Amino acid sequence: MERAVSGVRSKRVPGERDKATTVLSMVGLPARGKTYIGRRVARYLSWLGHPTRVFNVGSYRRRQIGASQPADFFAPTNKEGRQVLHDLAMTALDDMLAWLREGGEVGIFDATNSTKERRRLVEERCRKEGLPVVFIESFCNDSSVIEANVRDTKLKSPDYVDMDPDAAAQDFLRRIAHYESMYETLDDPNQSYIKIIDVGRQVILNRIHGYLPARLAPLLIDLHVSPRPIWLTRHGQSDYNRHGRIGGDPELSPAGEEYAKHLAEFVRKNAPRDQEVAVWTSTLRRTISTATKITRSPRTWRALDEIDAGVCDGMTYDQVRIEMPDVWAARSADKFRYRYPRGESYEDVIQRLDPVIIQLERQRSPTLVIAHQAVLRAIYAYLMDRPPSECPSISVPLHTVIQLTPTAYGCEEKRFALPPNVEDQGAGG
Ligand code: F6P
Repeated sequence: MERAVSGVRSKRVPGERDKATTVLSMVGLPARGKTYIGRRVARYLSWLGHPTRVFNVGSYRRRQIGASQPADFFAPTNKEGRQVLHDLAMTALDDMLAWLREGGEVGIFDATNSTKERRRLVEERCRKEGLPVVFIESFCNDSSVIEANVRDTKLKSPDYVDMDPDAAAQDFLRRIAHYESMYETLDDPNQSYIKIIDVGRQVILNRIHGYLPARLAPLLIDLHVSPRPIWLTRHGQSDYNRHGRIGGDPELSPAGEEYAKHLAEFVRKNAPRDQEVAVWTSTLRRTISTATKITRSPRTWRALDEIDAGVCDGMTYDQVRIEMPDVWAARSADKFRYRYPRGESYEDVIQRLDPVIIQLERQRSPTLVIAHQAVLRAIYAYLMDRPPSECPSISVPLHTVIQLTPTAYGCEEKRFALPPNVEDQGAGG
């Protein structure tokens, strides 16, 4: 029997609805986490559907004049060095503006931009293109943060490859001192800026208007790199999984109950001592039941509910293919953007997961997220910086814990398959 339901595929390119071409210009002394912040913002905005790219002036320098420049190259008295650095910054800025002209949405200009004069120049060039500029400054005098940053990122950078770590640290601190001697913090009341002081101890928003810059504030107020595992797992096998049916609110199968026990054991064994594990589930029974051996009161999020299959809820993939061939064809053609009639697309799922991601970024303790296939694909894509359009094909098998540990510029991944081994009839491709 063929049911007459037409496919609903949004015609726009992801992000186009809210396209608000913007330049974000980083500001800060070396080792203040500018690149870290820039990349985090890029990952977040790209995931939300706003094509974003970071233009890092340090990489231009390494590519064009080589990595190993001694600290004095950066001295304000070294006129030649200053000119080279200025020209490199302008090349990166021009490349960013060209990329934005060709359809990019958010350009992140990652340089120290440490003087008012430089920032005026950036604004002037952007203004000529009709582009608003928001400065993002990381202002930090906490020596423990700076030392950790130098140790964890700078000394591993190509600038100091093969150099004795102590000598490299000394050289880098001298480089910082040169920048310090000419540094001017953001204080122009007419400029649009976000100033992050001491890694979020204080955050100042000045003239932040518009949808896109305002969306950054919740992310920026609590960025940190406390090493803690994020565990992602689907619920234990459900009655629907056994029969290949999608959606619904089924209970766990006996094999799913069994998985819940193994998962609890896994968490007990792997949770760092003295740290409480936050357990998050959707509002659906199969995730809450999977959590019961760990906690009786998980934090339940509606936003973690599985993709809404609308009129297809409760059907098997074969039924959809035979009874609603147009739905099947349209979804197969563009699984990311296809919205089930009276249901959701992957793109919709990403938008509703935004508060979950913001909260996940804030967490400092281990977090176990027990959810569903499509939802976990979307969260995984964010954490692993995968293009959102790839979400629908990311592998998230049943009875598997995906452990992601945030590091300075990404996440380390480990996967643990736990018993019992089950066949997943509704794995979806
Ligand atoms: O089959 C399990 C399930 O969680 C369904 O409830 C959901 O519709 C599906 O996976 C999502 O996967 P896909 O997008 O591949 O159909």
